[in-house]
Amino acid sequence: MIAYLNGQYLPKADIAISPDDRGFLFADGLYEVIRSYDGCLFQMAAHLERLVRGAEHLRFNADGCGNLETVCRTLLEKNNLTTGGALVYIQVTRGAPPVRAHHFPSATTPLTVYATVRAFKPDHDIQQNGVRVVLLPDQRWARCDLKTVGLTANALAAQQAHERGAAEALLVRDGCVMEGSHSSFLVVDNGCVVAPPLTNYILDSISRQVVEALCAREGIPFDARPIHQERLAGADELMLTGTTLEVSPVTEIIGFEKSWPVGPVTRKLQNAFRGETRAV
Ligand code: PDD
Repeated sequence: MIAYLNGQYLPKADIAISPDDRGFLFADGLYEVIRSYDGCLFQMAAHLERLVRGAEHLRFNADGCGNLETVCRTLLEKNNLTTGGALVYIQVTRGAPPVRAHHFPSATTPLTVYATVRAFKPDHDIQQNGVRVVLLPDQRWARCDLKTVGLTANALAAQQAHERGAAEALLVRDGCVMEGSHSSFLVVDNGCVVAPPLTNYILDSISRQVVEALCAREGIPFDARPIHQERLAGADELMLTGTTLEVSPVTEIIGFEKSWPVGPVTRKLQNAFRGETRAV
């Protein structure tokens, strides 16, 4: 397996990142996960835009990232992953200054840019039959719109879900469902697809952007408004969306008597989403 680090393509086993790296010491970094379908990078421009936006907020000098699209393509080629499905992972951190200090290192400290790729096959059973989820308190910080590598709260929630036999944790803040630990959440209410407003408390998900565009194309109303926990039982359909899940139905929430069908709107969006991935 060949990976990329700071301008070099190396066997992954030979990649060495300094213990002084701010990603390791402070989780001071950003990441992206991009899906490749037969060598075509899905929504690459949107992923890169989000990374650049995040870098601006974190006050990284994004020029130091290099041409990440070329890096991703080269990794797919070098690892013979230009056919079939793959996931590309990119991580950019504030580099490895020699002394640990909370404030930023000098502007001459280069960013650490790492990328890797692996084969990926979606779980067809999840897409076909849906998943069970669990509601958990959102214990993350107040900048969930930034895709930082500080994922401890997400990992804790995902682990709790896993231990309870659920595929995803839905994170609840102030009585409203925000998103999953690693996916976005939408409901269908009277024929309208509803997703939480894009605030600092959720990620501006690329897959959700695709779903919103597909709703417009298919004539399905789409509204960004809070999803109140106590009104979930009244929703007609529930779904998750994300780079790995595409559009996946939710059929069960632990603790709720009601279960949800894999409904017609979810199916329509799922098929339309798959169509988009074939079109890239
Ligand atoms: N997760 N919300 C959170 C908290 C996420 O971590 C993700 C993606 C999403 C969906 O975003 P997108 O559609 O851009 O993939 C929403 C990635 C896949 C991960 O952490 O592995």
